[in-house]
Amino acid sequence: MAKLFYAGISGLGSAVPDKIMTNADWAKLVDTSDEWIRTRTGIEERRICAEDTAASDLAFLAAQRALQSAQAAPEEIDLIVVATSTPDYPIFPPVAALLQDRLGCGKAGGFDLSAACSGFGYGFYTAAQFIESGELQKVLLVCVDTLSKNVDRTDRSVCVLFGDGAGALVLERTEVGYGHLASIVGLRGSGAPDLIVKLGGSKTPLTKENIGNQDQYISMNGKGVFKFAVNIMGEATEQAIRKAGLTNKDIDFFVPHQANIRIIDAAMRHLDLAPEKVIVNIQKYGNTSSASIPLALDEAYRDGRLKKGSLIATCGFGAGLSWTANVLRWGK
Ligand code: ACO
Repeated sequence: MAKLFYAGISGLGSAVPDKIMTNADWAKLVDTSDEWIRTRTGIEERRICAEDTAASDLAFLAAQRALQSAQAAPEEIDLIVVATSTPDYPIFPPVAALLQDRLGCGKAGGFDLSAACSGFGYGFYTAAQFIESGELQKVLLVCVDTLSKNVDRTDRSVCVLFGDGAGALVLERTEVGYGHLASIVGLRGSGAPDLIVKLGGSKTPLTKENIGNQDQYISMNGKGVFKFAVNIMGEATEQAIRKAGLTNKDIDFFVPHQANIRIIDAAMRHLDLAPEKVIVNIQKYGNTSSASIPLALDEAYRDGRLKKGSLIATCGFGAGLSWTANVLRWGK
């Protein structure tokens, strides 16, 4: 459908905790090795939140940087969308409200969006609609997750994978043909048990009896998720590229969700992309869930790789099972 307006990224920023946890650090706690983690996942180290650091703390830093990069005042923001699976509080208030107050976004409304590791893609697609329709002028999208707090630190098959981080974008109207071009989204709910935290929701609320139970942590069918992701990432990205009226050859940069280097490599082969077109920083941050794509995007912007006109495809996948891919033309 033709767009009334185009929604571009006018600013972006990111934040990660200071604490670095290397593979060697994990090898002191569980039966693993730097070699196993590196070769099976591509991860070398990840950032881990201090116990008293909440999602909103990382979100606040990333958002401040994004506002600065967009040269936007907090009072100009119309809407705050926060993509997270790890809000400060399990039921309410939403992180968006905490951010609104802390940033001083006086006139903003806002809400949280739960789409696991697909959070960036769903958030970007959602936020773009408000700009493309002409309804709002400036939307702040913040993707933040602190999944290191939700892993069983004795489960080597999960605990080594996740790191914490936040990425934020300001979206506003941009030149015709720039910014958000196309998105696709998908769900395969039959795979819900493959990546799940069973305890603490309405199905099994926390009680005095079940607190401390294994079910409070991430439970993952690693092989099942791997098989799903290794196919969906390439296919979904190609669909979004086609929806934008482009071909794989047109893409200057591919920014995949950073969950496993072998999944990223498979997508790169599927899309027939040269390695220098694929933005990868999994080695430094591990899987930061919804934050991984904006963290990588911010890094590529800051080191000068993204140029005005660069065509970018992104693809995320995660619990649900869910996926999403977006195509945008860099306009900054
Ligand atoms: N160190 C050493 N050995 C390990 C570790 C570890 N950290 N973890 C598992 N192993 C062992 C297993 O126990 C198994 O041993 P066994 O053969 O004696 O039983 C062996 O290594 C092989 O295990 P596999 O599970 O077959 O290993 P695989 O190659 O599949 O890699 C991994 C596991 C890395 C988890 C992979 O399956 C994967 O990345 N899956 C996708 C996960 C993912 O992306 N999740 C996030 C989704 S995003 C979101 O929404 C949160």
